[in-house]
Amino acid sequence: MNLNTSKMAILVIAFLAGGPLQAEESLAIRNCTWCHGSSAQGLSTAPRLAGQRDQYIQNQLLSFSEHLRDNPLSQQYMWPATAHLSPQAAHDLSAYFSALPPVPANDGDPELAAAGRAIYDEGIADSDVSACVVCHGPNAEGVRGIPRLGGLSYPYLKRRLEQWGEGFHAAAAPMPQIAGRLSPNQIDALASYLSFIGYESLE
Ligand code: HEC
Ligand code: HEC
Repeated sequence: MNLNTSKMAILVIAFLAGGPLQAEESLAIRNCTWCHGSSAQGLSTAPRLAGQRDQYIQNQLLSFSEHLRDNPLSQQYMWPATAHLSPQAAHDLSAYFSALPPVPANDGDPELAAAGRAIYDEGIADSDVSACVVCHGPNAEGVRGIPRLGGLSYPYLKRRLEQWGEGFHAAAAPMPQIAGRLSPNQIDALASYLSFIGYESLE
């Protein structure tokens, strides 16, 4: 075998084995999953990405890189994580994570779930809070740029709803206005209810 054919043989073997391209791709995914958990189900303060809406993930990656999503944990972790992310990589990672099956966190207070469900389905007329179901869907599954909420973790949901009321991520219309009208008890109830919505709700 001369030099050229042995080089060719190595390339063919690398190609058949899924080679360097696949290694690069899994490295890109690991850049996210070391924080978001190995199957992207969420870990510590990093939320679940598995099963989240493709378009919503892409929108969030853009709002981190443009520093519009400006709460402290986003600044600390996601601004650096998106600083050098190409549009193509953001597109591919969003498609990858949205296709993974989501597992519900089930970590809210079960006794508050019924109160949370009532707000989710009907809104709160007295404080002019729209029913969440209108946008997020009957099973909190989301659509396009509207996120799936079902099965996200209680502390994450609670923090998101609180931080809009504190003025963070003001560009996330219509949520700052809606969440700003919720009391701490109502936030607890909603975050509890949503944490229990699971697989059977997948459309
Ligand atoms: C160093 C840890 C860390 C790394 C690395 C990281 N993340 Fe995050 N990510 C977080 C934290 C923490 C949050 C929660 C921010 C908040 O509370 O608003 C977050 C939030 C997100 C969100 C918002 C989810 C939602 O439901 O709104 C998306 C999307 C996201 N990350 C995608 C990624 C992708 C894609 C990568 C890899 C390119 C990545 N993250 C790398 C820690 C990290
Ligand atoms: C008019 C439509 C609409 C209504 C009504 C609505 N939402 Fe949203 N919600 C959105 C959109 C759009 C986003 C994404 C905003 C962005 O791009 O950052 C969102 C984002 C969220 C998020 C962020 C999820 C994540 O992964 O970080 C939470 C939590 C949330 N909504 C909870 C609620 C709750 C609870 C209610 C009811 C009290 C509600 N929403 C009512 C449209 C709506």
